[in-house]
Amino acid sequence: MLLAPALGLACALASAQTPDKLISGPGATLTENKCKICHELQHIRRQPLSRGEWADNLRNMKERGTPMDEAEMAVILEYLATYYNREQPAPAPAPDTLAGGGADPVAKLLNAHACSGCHSLDKRVVGPSFREVGQRYAGDTGAAARLAAKIRNGGQGAWGSVPMPPAPAISDAELATLIGWVLSQN
Ligand code: HEC
Ligand code: HEC
Repeated sequence: MLLAPALGLACALASAQTPDKLISGPGATLTENKCKICHELQHIRRQPLSRGEWADNLRNMKERGTPMDEAEMAVILEYLATYYNREQPAPAPAPDTLAGGGADPVAKLLNAHACSGCHSLDKRVVGPSFREVGQRYAGDTGAAARLAAKIRNGGQGAWGSVPMPPAPAISDAELATLIGWVLSQN
């Protein structure tokens, strides 16, 4: 009795959305961005899992190379277990309050340390795009340590004559998070 209208609503919502989108909710954008790297979001939509199964799936996806840290994984798990849970109906779509860097620890750090003023993921701003940095150092095992020193102390010459200013306030842990993320953009 209740099922038919609910399905009708789901179909109407699905057809009103652009094709490769997840249900809007806190963490949807982060989930889309991470999971679209390798496959269509259809993988998520067609097969709701239980919370425990999503947790296993996320570990598996991380092993397969999804660039996400523990904090991001926690946000994604919460989102999937809420909106794509085979054991409970999804709540109504809600604004993604975690979009725009709110819950994405990397985006937060990039904003907090003003990196985003000079860098973006795929366009040159004042400095190189993070994607071209990731590509240049792919497979270079010494790159992480060199980039850490370069970001902390500033420097120039690797991409042109414009210098990057030093960032003395950034912690080792923050640097490790940012560099791990940059080096996975390739
Ligand atoms: C680095 C590439 C990569 C990324 C990024 C990725 N996946 Fe996958 N995913 C795969 C591969 C490869 C398979 C198919 C292999 C398999 O069935 O285990 C797969 C399969 C799946 C399946 C079907 C699993 C099954 O056992 O049938 C689901 C569900 C899934 N991914 C969810 C996700 C979610 C959620 C994300 C985002 C957090 C994600 N994937 C990100 C590579 C990736
Ligand atoms: C005022 C602008 C500016 C800010 C702020 C800035 N950068 Fe840069 N960044 C640059 C420039 C310019 C370069 C290129 C330097 C060069 O040619 O060696 C660069 C280079 C880099 C590189 C590549 C270094 C190399 O040797 O290949 C990384 C990684 C990087 N920045 C990360 C960051 C991070 C993370 C932050 C924030 C903590 C940050 N940047 C803040 C301007 C900036």
